[in-house]
Amino acid sequence: MPATTHSPKPYDGPTREEVLATRREFLAPSLLTYYRDPLMIVEGSMQWLFDETGRRYLDFFGGIVTVSVGHCHPRVVEKVREQVERLQHTTTIYLHPTIAEFGRKLASTMPANSGLEVCYFTSSGSEANELAMLMSRLYTGNFDLIALRNGYHGMTNQAMGLTGLHTWKQPLLHGIGVHHARLPDRLRGPYGYDDPDAGSKYADEVIDLIQYGTSGQIAGFIAEPIQGVGGTVEIPLGYLPKVYEAVRAAGGVCISDEVQTGFGRTGTKFWGFENHGVTPDIVTMAKGIGNGAPLGACVARAEVAGSMANRLHFNTYGGNPVSMAAGLATLNVMLEDDLQSRCRDIGGHLLEGLKNLQSNHDIVGDARGQGLMLGLELVMDSKSLAPNGPAAAQVHDRAKEMGLLLGKGGLKGNVLRIKPPMCITREDCDFAIDVLDRCLHEVS
Ligand SMILES: Cc1ncc(COP(=O)(O)O)c(C=O)c1O
Repeated sequence: MPATTHSPKPYDGPTREEVLATRREFLAPSLLTYYRDPLMIVEGSMQWLFDETGRRYLDFFGGIVTVSVGHCHPRVVEKVREQVERLQHTTTIYLHPTIAEFGRKLASTMPANSGLEVCYFTSSGSEANELAMLMSRLYTGNFDLIALRNGYHGMTNQAMGLTGLHTWKQPLLHGIGVHHARLPDRLRGPYGYDDPDAGSKYADEVIDLIQYGTSGQIAGFIAEPIQGVGGTVEIPLGYLPKVYEAVRAAGGVCISDEVQTGFGRTGTKFWGFENHGVTPDIVTMAKGIGNGAPLGACVARAEVAGSMANRLHFNTYGGNPVSMAAGLATLNVMLEDDLQSRCRDIGGHLLEGLKNLQSNHDIVGDARGQGLMLGLELVMDSKSLAPNGPAAAQVHDRAKEMGLLLGKGGLKGNVLRIKPPMCITREDCDFAIDVLDRCLHEVS
C-alpha cells in the first residue's frame, strides 16, 4: 500500500459494535451500510480513511463522489474553520460577501457565452433538481418532463419521480408528469457497443416518446452525462445534441445533472455536458462542490431563472456562510491546482489498468468512464454478458479487506464504481489495480 505521512489520532469513542447496535435501535431502518461487516470510519486525510483501530484504507469512492479535493483538505478546512469562528449562520435575508463571490466564481466556470450565470444555492443535489423541475415548468408553462431509466436524481419526493422509478425500489406514486426514456447503454442496448450512430438512434426514441408518449409540450429533459448510481454508464456521443434539439422544439428546457460529473471529474472538460458539445439551460450540482459540505446548486440562464422572480424562494441553509466558504475554498483548490488535468492524466492511467483487467478476466464485461469517473462491469462471462452482482459484491468486500474502498452500482449491482478524490496518485492507482486483480482471481 502506498505510504502516507498522516498518522491518525488515538480513538477512544464507542466500539464499532456499540455504534452498530445504537444505530439499529435509534436510526432509520432504510439507512444502508456497505459490507458484510459494516465499516466504521473515524478520520480522513486526503485519499486516506481510517477506522477506529487506526487501520488505513485507500478511498476510491470519496463518500459517494463527494470528497472531491481530498478528505479534510487543509486549505478547505482552514477557510471553513475561519468562517465557523467568525459567523456560522445567517440566512440570505442578510447580505454576506461569500455567497456573492462564490456565485460569481461558479458562474465563471460555465462555458463562455452560455448564459449560465444565475446561481441558486441549496443544501443537496435533490433540492437542486427540485428547483430545476420547478423552474422548467414555470418558465415553459408545460408540465411533462423526460428523464432516463436507471438515472438517479435524488431522494426528495419529486426528485424520486425523476429517478427511474422501478429501478431504485421507489413506489410508483411519485413522478406525475415524468416520462422515462430508454437508457442509452452501449453494452446492454440494442444497437451494439461500437455502433457510431448509437447516440442518434437512441435519441430517435426520445423523439418518439415526445410525440407519442407525452402531451407533446415538454417542460424539460434531464440526464446525467455519465450515469453515476446507474453504474457509470456513458451517454454515447451524438445523443444529447439530438435530444436537446427535439426537447427545445417541443418547448422544453434541457437540464444537465452534474452532481457526479461536474467540477472537472471527467478530465477533458470542467462540466460533463461539455464533452457532448451541448449547452443546457439549467445545470444542477452538489457533492464535489463542497468537498463534503451539505451544498448543492442550480445554475441557470438568466431568463429561465427569472421565472422564479415573482415567487418566494427561500432555503434556510442554502447559501449559508459556512457552506459558501467550503464551496469557494474547494473551487479555488480545484482551479489553482488544475485538478481537472489531474483527473484526465491519472484517470487515463487508471482506465488503462482497468482495461487490462478486462483483457485478463472473463468476468469483466466492460471497463469504462472518463477521467476519475470510472466503472468496471462484472458479468457471468464475456459471451452472455449476464450481470454478475454476486461477484461484484464479493470483490467489493474483499477489496475492503485488502485496504481499498470502492463503490457499487448499476441496476443489478454488478458495477464497481471508482470515483476517488482527485488527489490520488499513480501509485495509488497501481495499488488499486493490483488489489482488483487479486480479488477478480479469487471470484473467477
Ligand atoms: C446524479 C445525482 N443527482 C442527484 C443526487 C442527489 O444528491 P443529494 O444526495 O445531495 O440530494 C445524486 C446523489 O447521489 C446524484 O448522484
